Amino acid sequence: TIEQSLRPTTLNQYIGQDKAKENLKVFIQAAKMREEPLDHVLLYGPPGLGKTTLAAIIANEMGVQFRSTSGPAIERAGDLAAILSSLEPGDVLFIDEVHRLPRTVEEVLYPAMEDFFLDIVIGTGPSARSVRIDLPPFTLVGATTRAGLLSAPLRDRFGVLSRLEFYETKDLCSIVERTAEIFNTSITKEAALEVARRSRGTPRIANRLLKRIRDISQVNGEVAISLASTNTALEMLQVDDAGLDHTDHKFLKGMIESFNGGPVGLDTIAATIGEESQTIEDVYEPYLLQIGFIQRTPRGRIVTAKAYQHFGLRWHE
Ligand code: ADE
Repeated sequence: TIEQSLRPTTLNQYIGQDKAKENLKVFIQAAKMREEPLDHVLLYGPPGLGKTTLAAIIANEMGVQFRSTSGPAIERAGDLAAILSSLEPGDVLFIDEVHRLPRTVEEVLYPAMEDFFLDIVIGTGPSARSVRIDLPPFTLVGATTRAGLLSAPLRDRFGVLSRLEFYETKDLCSIVERTAEIFNTSITKEAALEVARRSRGTPRIANRLLKRIRDISQVNGEVAISLASTNTALEMLQVDDAGLDHTDHKFLKGMIESFNGGPVGLDTIAATIGEESQTIEDVYEPYLLQIGFIQRTPRGRIVTAKAYQHFGLRWHE
């Protein structure tokens, strides 16, 4: 599908995240030289920054199969055993939302990660016994929004911890231009820059916005996506000049209007605007913190003068 062909398949095609890329290149090269599987990798950071893409690239660069699942999908130890025992030596197993593995499954995973075996209890009552299943050596690539969501024993079993950062505008601009090329669509430099600037540092958002902007541009009969079509489309999509969307506005305006800009506790503001605390914390707050629109204090979140200014409001001293 188009969706999949958007994903780069090698580290050299992967734009941005220079620190993560530079480190992984060395670890992959060393593992290949030793003819060993790569050590287990934990990728963490806000959604949409390319954790799944990077996991697939790791498998491709190692020359092994990529198998993919998620924490909530593995309900019982037996599910995990079935996946792990079907791997071939060196394969990459990607577990998205690895912090949501059930605790019982997590405990079975420890010896699998450390020494490549499973201890599975078969049967119940007096006839219950434990069998040991040897596994092929494999690389677990786990993904999570925050490393702190993992239990300490699980976190400690990853040899490589890699934090993905929001993308710089210039990198997002390259990604937008690359995606446009894959769509067989021309885009002006200024339009690409505008999409990049208003995508909250996030390739998934940039690519999604680009699809809708392309629709507008096409209906407008353009040969190349213009800045004018880009601005029209972004206004239709309720993406403001700073790239903030309807939910960002609800969150910030909720804190301003109901709590005079805070400090206000996360659960309080979540209940006020009718969003999940976890979603606010993992999806909305990281970018607002990064651009300095909110701050976290021991007494709760506060809206900064910069955010007030963005809305054309006067900040209280
Ligand atoms: N598409 C989405 N993210 C990308 C990235 N980091 N590099 C290249 N293409 C991408």
